[in-house]
Amino acid sequence: MKKLEEYVVSIPDYPEKGIIFRDVTSILEDPEGLQLSIRELQDKLEGMDFNIVIGPESRGFIFGMPIAYNLQKAFVPIRKKGKLPCETASIKYDLEYGSAEIEIHKRSIKPGDKVVIVDDLMATGGTAEAMIKLIEGLGGEVVEVLCLIELMGLKGREKLKGYKVDSVIQYP
Ligand code: PRP
Ligand code: ADE
Repeated sequence: MKKLEEYVVSIPDYPEKGIIFRDVTSILEDPEGLQLSIRELQDKLEGMDFNIVIGPESRGFIFGMPIAYNLQKAFVPIRKKGKLPCETASIKYDLEYGSAEIEIHKRSIKPGDKVVIVDDLMATGGTAEAMIKLIEGLGGEVVEVLCLIELMGLKGREKLKGYKVDSVIQYP
């Protein structure tokens, strides 16, 4: 069986010159890669006390949902602005390339909720930091930020000091 990192295809200069894009679709299109990715993420959550998995649109949905389903937790989506129909909290932030604005339904998080954030990849940590602000603003507690891939050189962890951060594959 191949190791998980062997499934990742790296594309230089996408979507902009100077960015190496780490493509997770190449993991998903192989049945063993898909199994391995969910299993290895899930293993990182062994023994953790939480009741909600949150994943950001769109790649966070792919990995967050099966983990929530397998571990019998709730799944709460964080979406790009303008997609959620009920009352939302929203926040703007910067990415490795570009910027974004994301939203969460206010009713989805209640004081005392313990949340694990799951995403495909952490680059600058801007998305994770923004999600933490949204969740804490609604009274939730973020117990872990879990990513399949972490781009260490962009020092996302420095934005997330004081939080438990974990990843399965690290690139320098
Ligand atoms: C990507 C990725 C992470 C985020 C990481 O999502 O899936 O959510 O960027 O970057 P950061 O650590 O610098 O914040 P993107 O916003 O490109 O959306 P997508 O999943 O819809 O492609
Ligand atoms: N999101 C932000 N930076 C990325 C990268 N280098 N590869 C894939 N997704 C990303």
